[in-house]
Amino acid sequence: MKISELRSMYLKFFKERGHSVIASASLIPEDDPSVLFTSAGMHPLVPYLLGQPHPEGKRVTNVQKCIRTTDIDEVGDTTHLTFFEMLGNWSFGDYWKKEAITWSYEFITSKKLLGLNPSKLSVTVFAGDEDSPRDSEAADAWKSVGIPEERIFFLTKEDNWWIAGNSGPCGPCTEMFIEVDEIPKCGPNCRPGCHCGHYVEIWNDVFMQYRKLDDGSYEPLAMKSIDTGMGVERTAAMLQGVPSVFDTEAFAPLIEKIKELSPLEEFSEVEETQIRIIADHVRSAVMIMADDRQIGPSNVEQGYIVRRLLRKAIHSSDRLNIAKGFMIDLTDIVVDMFKDLYKEVERNKEFIIKNLKAEEEKFRKTLTKALRRFDKILEETGTITGEDAFLLFTSFGLPLEMTRDLAEERGIVIDMKEFTKQFEEHREKSRTATQGKFKGGLADHSEAIVKLHTATHLLQAALRKVLGDEVTQNGSNITDDRLRFDFTFSRKLTSDEIEEVENLVNDIIAQDLAVEQSFMQYDDAIAKGALAFFKENYGEEVSVYHVGDFSMELCGGPHVETTGSLGKFKIANQKKIGAGILRIRAILEVS
Ligand code: ALA
Repeated sequence: MKISELRSMYLKFFKERGHSVIASASLIPEDDPSVLFTSAGMHPLVPYLLGQPHPEGKRVTNVQKCIRTTDIDEVGDTTHLTFFEMLGNWSFGDYWKKEAITWSYEFITSKKLLGLNPSKLSVTVFAGDEDSPRDSEAADAWKSVGIPEERIFFLTKEDNWWIAGNSGPCGPCTEMFIEVDEIPKCGPNCRPGCHCGHYVEIWNDVFMQYRKLDDGSYEPLAMKSIDTGMGVERTAAMLQGVPSVFDTEAFAPLIEKIKELSPLEEFSEVEETQIRIIADHVRSAVMIMADDRQIGPSNVEQGYIVRRLLRKAIHSSDRLNIAKGFMIDLTDIVVDMFKDLYKEVERNKEFIIKNLKAEEEKFRKTLTKALRRFDKILEETGTITGEDAFLLFTSFGLPLEMTRDLAEERGIVIDMKEFTKQFEEHREKSRTATQGKFKGGLADHSEAIVKLHTATHLLQAALRKVLGDEVTQNGSNITDDRLRFDFTFSRKLTSDEIEEVENLVNDIIAQDLAVEQSFMQYDDAIAKGALAFFKENYGEEVSVYHVGDFSMELCGGPHVETTGSLGKFKIANQKKIGAGILRIRAILEVS
């Protein structure tokens, strides 16, 4: 069955069962600054899962474009992708587990529909824990349609619980797996959820019956809902009996083109993986850039993801000796593939091509320098540390994956913990890229954290006003209940100075000033007096946040809209943590 047929069959099936067909939302969330991409069909529908009436009624169905970067390192295997389409059917306070499961079973196994062999279908359900009981209701529904007990697996929250991010609507889920005969079980304990490839997950029915609160507790939802997601490319691979998503028509023309562009005659397994990475990454980058908001490669937010994807693809293309400009040929294919479904793809084609060309130019220039530095570090120290990888990333824009690949080729394993530590610090300062967001799903940007982030900017500005320009940021860390700010200063503050800093910050809060973001060239930002913790060597355009003329910092956000919402700012303590470095912890009290 072709992908186009799968899409229309699914929508028709649910339309016949009272669902309204709704359009895919944008890949770039409209009203949710806490998440970079729509990574599941449910994201744009969260308000309706929480009780707001949907204009199309209580049952809707759709095909949703998704970007999920959590699995980026997995790309190249048989199933993982960064851009994919998800089929979904929703009940907002209408039907429940029995109907959802019965329809899922019918759709998968009916000869008139997908017609997959029922004996190859296994399911998982939630095993239960202190937050929610064992889901025997779902298991019973599976038994009643004919799934034998030995193919119903009870798993923990890790596998059978769905939530987007840290809080919000959530609940137990049941996942459906197809067994692939060509890939044998990896051992006696192989079961659905195992990553060996024998069991491929194609569909997930989520039973939204709780809301997780910021404090980690769960409260039952007054209105119970169904959220389901079926991966289009994976399901198509199953239906077509091909070994991977890359063998379906979603990728075959891209793979073919990449092979044609490479002068190599034959491809090793490693090279085949590079080919898949190029196909996946270019396809995803094109689909992100196709959004009408026209996000090109940059060092911030979604643009940074585009940059990483493209740079990784270029790196992989070099390994196959593919000539410059290859991404344009691939773009033509992706645009043709999606132009009828998503009109914006063709609309923004010119923008995409212009950006692909520019990015390749830019990257090739920086790459030569980065590789020279990489070799120099290696020559001088005999290794590449996590810190070196971080330096190559901040100074040259060399994506971590590339540094890791280059190191691995030389038998060196990079200390990822060290890299991550530095990256996390970096994220707090300039947020040129947020690793949390890069991982997909909602980053931890709870209201409390966002408020404390804005307060950190105000604190730094106030410290500089009271203590002078000697104050420069050395580190920052924010948790739900406090901010921690390290800065260069030679002594502890007096109690008068503490009071003065608090008063300055509280005065800005009282004025309820707008926190505004703008984009400008790095050099202009610095010339205008913006504080920058990291030098953005490789970036032209940077994001800057201002609070009146009080504070101006290079930063990717997010921040509150106006300072009035912060509450009362209070310095909790100060501590000398090194020669000339002071650490302040501060809190926001509800005023
Ligand atoms: N929200 C569920 C998922 O993405 C359906 O798997």
